[in-house]
Amino acid sequence: MEYSENFVNRLLQSKRLVILTGAGTSAESGIATFRDPEGLWSKFDPLELASIDGFLANPKLVWEWYQYRVNIINNAKPNGGHLAITELQKIKDNLVIVTQNVDRLHQKAGSKNVIELHGDIITNRCFDCEKQYLGKTLLPNNELPKCNFCNGKIRPNVVWFGEQLPQKAISDSENHAKKSDVFLIAGTSSEVYPAAGLSYLAKQYGSFVIEINPNETNFSSSADYIIREKSSHAFQNILNILKD
Ligand code: OAD
Repeated sequence: MEYSENFVNRLLQSKRLVILTGAGTSAESGIATFRDPEGLWSKFDPLELASIDGFLANPKLVWEWYQYRVNIINNAKPNGGHLAITELQKIKDNLVIVTQNVDRLHQKAGSKNVIELHGDIITNRCFDCEKQYLGKTLLPNNELPKCNFCNGKIRPNVVWFGEQLPQKAISDSENHAKKSDVFLIAGTSSEVYPAAGLSYLAKQYGSFVIEINPNETNFSSSADYIIREKSSHAFQNILNILKD
């Protein structure tokens, strides 16, 4: 795809670039998205597997599902998109990455300044006292892991449906969106709020908002520029533009 001169100039001149990523940016690492035809929510019930009520009703089922995903994620490697974003950060050193992904692939690729809006799947915490843990799993006899301090149930450190986002993550992201001059969203259906609201906020504050996604989304009609490509390809092209 031939990129417009306006888009290239905006990128070159950008002093406050923010990238918001979603599940599509990890798709080329072999991690399923949620709302594509083969996505996780076409096969699994989010209320059963990603809500407080679902966890309390059947914690073992929820644990098994998260362990299945953790195994895939632990074996996944950052793709060309993640790696290009890390290189971009060396050129635009105040580039901030805001992600809805829980897979930590941006960090695995060496990126800094990553704000995780939906937590992460690698760590856990106590449902009752919030004590943080690393790498808890179901016990060999399939029993639930318990908190060493209060004996509460341990849960994945992700944000579930109906839960608040981490306060600092969302307020920092809003501030970055407001101050950005280019706001680039990649691999997200823009269906889940408050994350999806950041693109509209950036636009409202005068940022040039770019969408990278092979498919149309809820946000497409509001985007200032659209790149209908997979994220690995698009970010490598953007890196080449900025390197030249
Ligand atoms: P979705 O599954 O809703 O959307 C994924 C988007 O990625 C779609 O718009 C695809 O067209 C696009 N896509 C697929 N392959 C791509 C590729 N190679 N390059 C670029 N784009 C591609 O995922 P999210 O928008 O991230 O929340 O979903 C938001 C939240 O909904 C998730 O964080 C998760 C989920 O419920 C929680 O678990 C709290």
